[in-house]
Amino acid sequence: MKNRKKEEPSARIPEHIAIIMDGNGRWAKKRLLPRSAGHRAGMKNMIALAEYAFSRGVRYVTAFALSTENFLRPQEELEGLFGLFREYFKKNAAVMREKGIALKVIGNPCLLPEDVRRLIAEGEEDTKGGSEGTLVLAIGYGGRQDIVFAVNEAVRRGKEVTAEEFSALLSTDGVPDPDLLIRTGKELRISNFLLWQSAYTEFYFTETLFPDFGEKELDRAIEAYSERERRFGKI
Ligand code: FPP
Repeated sequence: MKNRKKEEPSARIPEHIAIIMDGNGRWAKKRLLPRSAGHRAGMKNMIALAEYAFSRGVRYVTAFALSTENFLRPQEELEGLFGLFREYFKKNAAVMREKGIALKVIGNPCLLPEDVRRLIAEGEEDTKGGSEGTLVLAIGYGGRQDIVFAVNEAVRRGKEVTAEEFSALLSTDGVPDPDLLIRTGKELRISNFLLWQSAYTEFYFTETLFPDFGEKELDRAIEAYSERERRFGKI
């Protein structure tokens, strides 16, 4: 046993938490509600959870709202999600600005309807410079696509790059790599989320369905994180 001084469980707060918000559909099904009701409950929870995380000292929260592969879902479900994005950016961008939270969206905007793209751009512009925390929404995002885009950009520039320079070509430029990645809803996989960025991220998996993953559960995940020993390849 190493003679390592044990930290207070709540002493180490991750600077950046990434969340795969899985289980909205099952949450709705259990209540005999349409899947859209699950996504709505998920959105509500995401807003509350991000604010709570910032109040605990977390600086960045990245939420996986729609993957590139999710575009294979029925059009009706996608339309429902686009509707939620519209609602969110229309109503919440101003609230975020007031609370000093910056919004950043990563993903391929070409996959989204024109008006949603415009609302996103306005939301990002309106909340620019928010210093209480940054909420990164991954919408139409794929980790592999992010990497391929960066590779092509490096090739276009015609100069070899270091790992650090490569990171700056990704959509997450300016955002530190996640310290903790939470996936709700039982599955034990990363599903094309922040592939490059999660090289040294600590993972936390829970069976709790995302709309039920509240403040207490987040506290538990942060506590589990603060007990991990991060060695980054060293001994
Ligand atoms: C995965 O659960 C969840 C999604 C594909 C959508 C998540 C989106 C939100 C919570 C809305 C976020 C809103 C904004 C404004 C960013 P699932 O539906 O696949 O769940 P299941 O596995 O139980 O079917």
